[in-house]
Amino acid sequence: MSQVPSPRESAGLAVPVSSYYQRHIFFCLNERKSGEEACANHRAQQAFERCKSQVKAAGLAGPGQVRVNKAGCLDRCAAGPVAVVYPEAVWYSYVDEQDIDEIVESHLKNGQVVERLLAPPHLGR
Ligand code: FES
Repeated sequence: MSQVPSPRESAGLAVPVSSYYQRHIFFCLNERKSGEEACANHRAQQAFERCKSQVKAAGLAGPGQVRVNKAGCLDRCAAGPVAVVYPEAVWYSYVDEQDIDEIVESHLKNGQVVERLLAPPHLGR
């Protein structure tokens, strides 16, 4: 695991001291009526709900801390199901609740990227 600089830090910019949330995670919950592959086919809703409940249980939810949000297609379908954490812009491909719990404990709580769950960088739609 490693501490990842935010895009602003990487660009040599000061990190804003008044960022409303320290970290913001978005889960793709997209489903396709045509039956094509989409994150919703891989328990994305359950993962989102698990993340939300774990963040709340850990006392991490709220301004200055962590926000867990739904998203539509993030155009990384081939790596799905996916979630992305900002401000670090770290993309995860997860499988089960244990993966979500690890993202919450390691990244959202302690700022340590879970490298084993990183989405392959070349996979897009
Ligand atoms: S369906 Fe989830 S990233 Fe496109």
